[in-house]
Amino acid sequence: MHFPYCIRKCNYCDFFKHAINPINFDLYHQYLEESQIQHIKLHEQYNCSISMLKTFYLGGGTPSYWGEVGIGFLETFFKKNKIAFESDYEFTLEINPGSGFVNDMVSWKNLGVNRYSVGVQSLNPFFLKILDRIHSRQDALTLIEKLAQEKTNYSVDFILGLPYSQDQKRDICSELAEVLKFHPNHISMYILSVDKNYLHFNSLPEEEWIVDEYLLASSFLASHGFEHYEVSNWAKNNCFSKHNLNYWRLGNWAALGPSATGNIIAKDNMGIRYTWDNEKPSYQLEYLDNQKLKLEKLFMGLRTSLGINPEEIFTKVELEIFKKIVDKWEKVGYTKSIGSFVSLSDRGFLMLNSLLDDIFIKIPNF
Ligand SMILES: C[S@@+](CC[C@H](N)C(=O)[O-])C[C@H]1O[C@@H](n2cnc3c(N)ncnc32)[C@H](O)[C@@H]1O
Ligand code: SF4
Repeated sequence: MHFPYCIRKCNYCDFFKHAINPINFDLYHQYLEESQIQHIKLHEQYNCSISMLKTFYLGGGTPSYWGEVGIGFLETFFKKNKIAFESDYEFTLEINPGSGFVNDMVSWKNLGVNRYSVGVQSLNPFFLKILDRIHSRQDALTLIEKLAQEKTNYSVDFILGLPYSQDQKRDICSELAEVLKFHPNHISMYILSVDKNYLHFNSLPEEEWIVDEYLLASSFLASHGFEHYEVSNWAKNNCFSKHNLNYWRLGNWAALGPSATGNIIAKDNMGIRYTWDNEKPSYQLEYLDNQKLKLEKLFMGLRTSLGINPEEIFTKVELEIFKKIVDKWEKVGYTKSIGSFVSLSDRGFLMLNSLLDDIFIKIPNF
């Protein structure tokens, strides 16, 4: 479920959101109610039930900003729509440390939230200011300490490749070390992705500097027992994001809220992708034929450490060409083959797009 509001917009962020003050979520609630009627009908058409959920991801925007009003709305929404959770469900809430979450923590827990994803981005006040974040370094640390005291399952988001980080010698490992004192089981590190109109575009670090920062941070996390299980995600004690793993493995997922995208794999191996309109409670459909699904399986699978089983994706002729490509990539240490699976190494994750280009050039009809 996508919650499309933030207290203030961070200058780098491209997610669909409005900045609002004072708080009035009535239009959003109406949007959700109206779209859920169509949502159920769409899923029924493909014999796909959306009442018993394995995972629920409340992202945004800043869903922690929805607070008690949102918790009350969701409670009624779940009851009204007979939405229940499987016994080992995962319910993640994204939190911005500046959104006053701690006051509502017990209520979120009572609603069923059992995993939190905290948007920290940096613990260095200089970078928090450059990014227009609404919280201080101390707000982030206090929140993480609270989550740790409550023994919750939580993840922390950082952003790499920040503007001025090369000149300022940003030290991501010391920021990670501060967070690791509170024993999170999951860390996400996204490389900043912006276009040339970005306010600080001319102050971004060089590509090689970002590569070094990513590899350094990844080996730091590995030395603390974290498994690099997706391009931007590290977990320890098997605390992978169940919700996102299903997404990367191209499972079924339902989606609700402005700009949210859902996926239904129908029985005849046809994919149906729907995207909710930003303003109106209506969606756009896209049909994914077998070829498109194979392409997505390749792209999404290579994002994860499990990788892909090429035999499930390529024809016999394509497989021969793919093997030659992988031989070449393996020699430079970008790919690994384990049993019938092919995956990318740490450095290889950064070369994902080049590997895909190589595949498309050598297997033109793929
Ligand atoms: C929806 S936001 C998370 C929750 C909350 N809105 C916050 O910012 O604290 C999801 C994550 O995406 C990442 N992100 C947002 N914009 C990005 C960008 N332009 N490039 C890379 N990562 C970005 C941030 O790490 C952010 O925590
Ligand atoms: S708070 Fe999160 S979603 Fe909102 S603008 Fe900032 S990064 Fe984007």
